[in-house]
Amino acid sequence: MMEKVIGIDLGTFNSCVAVGEGGTPVVIANRGGYKVTPSMVAITEAGKRLVGHIAKRQAVTNAENTVYAAKRLIGRKFRSPQVEAVMGNVPYRIVEGPHEDVRIQIRDKVHSVPEISSMLLQEMKAVAEDYLGHAVDKAVVTVPAYFNDGQRQATRDAGAIAGLDVIRIINEPTAAALAYGFGKNIDRRVAVYDLGGGTFDISLMEVSSQGVFKVISTSGDTMLGGEDFDQRIIDWLVEGFKSEHDIDLRQDRMALQRLKDAAEKAKCELSMVTETEVNLPFIISSARSEALHLQRQFTRSQLELITADLVERTIAICAQTLEDAGLEKEEIEDIILVGGMTRMPSVQRAVAKFYGREPCKGVHPDEVVALGAAIQGAALLDDGAEMILLDVTPHTLGIMVHGGTFEEVIPQNSTVPTSRSKVFTTVRDGQTTVKILIMQGEHERGRENVLLGEFQLTGLRSAAAGVVEVEVTFDINADGIVSVQAKDLDTGKEQSITVTASSDLTKDEIDIMVDDAQSHAIARREDEELQVARQEVETLLADIAKLFPKVEEMVAGSDFGRDAIDKARTVVDRAKGLMTTGDTQVLREQIEGLARTQRMFKGVVGRVG
Ligand SMILES: Nc1ncnc2c1ncn2[C@@H]1O[C@H](COP(=O)(O)OP(=O)(O)OP(=O)(O)O)[C@@H](O)[C@H]1O
Ligand SMILES: [Mg+2]
Repeated sequence: MMEKVIGIDLGTFNSCVAVGEGGTPVVIANRGGYKVTPSMVAITEAGKRLVGHIAKRQAVTNAENTVYAAKRLIGRKFRSPQVEAVMGNVPYRIVEGPHEDVRIQIRDKVHSVPEISSMLLQEMKAVAEDYLGHAVDKAVVTVPAYFNDGQRQATRDAGAIAGLDVIRIINEPTAAALAYGFGKNIDRRVAVYDLGGGTFDISLMEVSSQGVFKVISTSGDTMLGGEDFDQRIIDWLVEGFKSEHDIDLRQDRMALQRLKDAAEKAKCELSMVTETEVNLPFIISSARSEALHLQRQFTRSQLELITADLVERTIAICAQTLEDAGLEKEEIEDIILVGGMTRMPSVQRAVAKFYGREPCKGVHPDEVVALGAAIQGAALLDDGAEMILLDVTPHTLGIMVHGGTFEEVIPQNSTVPTSRSKVFTTVRDGQTTVKILIMQGEHERGRENVLLGEFQLTGLRSAAAGVVEVEVTFDINADGIVSVQAKDLDTGKEQSITVTASSDLTKDEIDIMVDDAQSHAIARREDEELQVARQEVETLLADIAKLFPKVEEMVAGSDFGRDAIDKARTVVDRAKGLMTTGDTQVLREQIEGLARTQRMFKGVVGRVG
């Protein structure tokens, strides 16, 4: 049996898994036949964990215990404007964790964000295992190109909790370009424009027939995506309702969840038609407790008007990446559109207008990222694979120096993996420790950037007669993750420092979460058997119900026949009554009984007819 590495596109809105099969990557459908799984997690009243479509279906009635768009929170500090923005818009509870990190409370349990993401990864792993028929433990997971070190580390933690060995983290637009160029034998400079549910990425790349995929420049916004378009529609609906009824629908969790669904649905419809109606009966009760309905016409031009600035923001970022790369628009030979939001006509128009050419067709916007991840996964397993991926770091890595200014160590758009050293000198005589603040960002003022972590160099030789020189080496690996080493140049003494972002989980915390995740993996299996059995009972019942009238008519003439019918009725009623049992064995017994009845019925119908 060949070892497999699966490729997972862990999206804000949807997740997708692919695997290489005989040299070709294929997207794997889940049990429901869907190639993408909603990135939603819920806990039911009975404490049952739901992931994907099942979670989505119950979101309205269980809004506060259903988590979506967790990717917008991953690797962020609780006290950040981004987290604050999310908090105001989602029906689930966001609380502060022990490392100033973000936690999500679902019912009586508080979960870290990587833990929530790990539930999605586990689900995608299970989808792949169902398809392959054997266990999988290695994956390539994609992240937005613009993710910083903290967000990447947290994604890596999510993999660990899910029991997956994440052998590589790759950038989503790069994965898309891999899938686009794979096996095509082309030399082309391309722009990958990826507008998904939560994030926007743009990468300029060179795809070569030699199998080299080189990123020239990348940029993005991790808080710009379909969620923001939906929010504009929700605000528009809420404001309209408020001026009519003087009621703020945002105060009602269930109303908010229904509004969100309706907004997203309307947005998608308006990619196809130019007008639609938002219709939400019984959205809320008024103070006089009469039921109120929300009903409004919504046109494509209205949608385009209230979201024009969002589209414009993506275009401004596109212009910036061209400038960073030192390229002219005309030098871009192909445009690849990725992400569900690129189905929106105004997005397509804006991109085509900016680059002065039509984007290429034939790339599936929802599947291409997972396919690229699977291609990379297969290549990492195969020593002989003739493919090279040269990605870049999206942010400048640097340190905060005296006076609060940010000093660059590794500039933005440097090819990774990469390493740079810098020599620091102590300021005061006799100083034995040095504190270094490591940051990522593009601002001149240090505190405007993201603090990845800080470390203290201790035990420096007390240089009474002068300063101490310390050489610090900064590494960014192929996953885009940062690490730091320091060396006292006088004594040669080395210190290895892991940059632990303040939002990181500790090893102990991860271990506990891994155990928890494992117990759920087993629960999922058992649960699945139950579901399958239930399905079987349902199918048999439906089949018998269809045959019933005919059989009854045929055998009603004899006592023996009437007796058989009565017996069949008992078997059917009993099975119906036991449908909700949690005991798979009991269901199996019903299946046997029903199957006997079905055979008998078929026999009767077949013999006479
Ligand atoms: N036909 C459509 N018209 C407009 N928007 C659409 C359409 N189909 C899907 N979308 C939107 O695309 C978004 C989902 O895109 P996608 O699945 O690419 O996101 P994702 O990969 O989960 O997110 P991200 O890459 O940002 O983490 C949602 O906001 C969805 O409403
Ligand atoms: Mg995506």
